[in-house]
Amino acid sequence: MDKQILILRGDGIGPEIMDQAIRVLHTIGETFGHSFHLTDGLIGGAAIDEAGTPLPEETIEKAKSSDAVLLGAVGGPKWDQNPSNLRPERGLLGIRKALDLYANLRPVKGFKTLTDASPLKREVIEGSDLLIVRELTGGLYFGRPSERRDNGNVVVDTLHYTKNEMTRIIKKAFESAELRSKKLTSVDKANVLESSKMWREIVETESKNYPDVTVEHVLVDACAMKLITSPKDFDTIVTENMFGDILSDEASVLTGSLGMLPSASLAENGVGLYEPAHGSAPDIAGQNIANPIAMILSAAMMLRHSFNLDAEATAIERAVEQAVNNGYHTKDLQVEGGTCLSTTDMTDQIIKQITKE
Ligand code: NAD
Ligand code: IPM
Ligand code: MN
Repeated sequence: MDKQILILRGDGIGPEIMDQAIRVLHTIGETFGHSFHLTDGLIGGAAIDEAGTPLPEETIEKAKSSDAVLLGAVGGPKWDQNPSNLRPERGLLGIRKALDLYANLRPVKGFKTLTDASPLKREVIEGSDLLIVRELTGGLYFGRPSERRDNGNVVVDTLHYTKNEMTRIIKKAFESAELRSKKLTSVDKANVLESSKMWREIVETESKNYPDVTVEHVLVDACAMKLITSPKDFDTIVTENMFGDILSDEASVLTGSLGMLPSASLAENGVGLYEPAHGSAPDIAGQNIANPIAMILSAAMMLRHSFNLDAEATAIERAVEQAVNNGYHTKDLQVEGGTCLSTTDMTDQIIKQITKE
């Protein structure tokens, strides 16, 4: 198989972890006989520095003519004081909108040997396995107006959704739940927000089209609590943009580190983008200590969702699990015993497992 992949390294640990995902992709290409053609593009702070904008038009054009996009992470203290339109994060939001990447899938599955890496009790998290389906192109992130008024004394952000935007992500979540254990938890704030009331109505209406899926509604505050007290009660979770952002970082605690969580951002028709759920981790950038697993598992999600290469994706996932089971981990995973490795050495161990299979 011949595929064109746009590589957006971004900022902070983005370039370091992207290099590891590329090494893994080369190994998969050699092992399974595929050619992955990689093109670089600019996004985030790197794009601001080189091109004066967080999302050059050229990046969007390259993305649209690729078969998939892999993204590291954006952002950092260097650009934190920039005006809103010149922040690295704008680049990320811009590409999500430009490619209409409305469906963000964030699987949260811990590895057995890392159970003690989580501050949560073993019996609480062991066996937890869930999928957060996050709406990615609407809500507070994109609603207008979003501005300061009255000499800076008043501020407004707008939570805007159309029925269509809600319906497509809710459908996607039902479809995902059907492929898993057929339990869908819809998370909202319907006791307060008008948007959540409409969301809940749509979930109820759509549920009639998926009779084998059991649906429950949970308010977002209670969900935040239940996610870490009884994570095994959850299978597929669907929620709007900002709730999904917050709950997914929280859920990463089940796996031992935010550095373990991959994601896929998908359009109805068109190119998909794959990126870790975490950020650019400026506090550890440039030290070769970042956990490359979220990025590597994001590349696996790309193989599965964009290229239909299920065996290849599984080979990566198994290799990661095997390397971890062999006692290898990175500094972010607080485990006793085993061997703490650098970013590149951890990747070596994963690659070793792929070539062994
Ligand atoms: P972050 O996710 O970058 O880091 C949070 C904590 O987790 C830090 O202590 C970091 O060291 C650690 N961490 C994250 N990924 C890790 C990995 N792979 N290995 C080891 N440790 C890891 O969040 P933050 O510090 O709040 O944000 C930093 C910057 O990243 C900000 O500019 C923010 O806007 C941006 N950000 C970008 C994305 C993205 O590009 N998708 C996502 C979140 C945050
Ligand atoms: C994420 C990030 C982004 C988001 C930021 C950097 C805009 O936190 O991908 O989870 O909030 O969506
Ligand atoms: Mn986030």
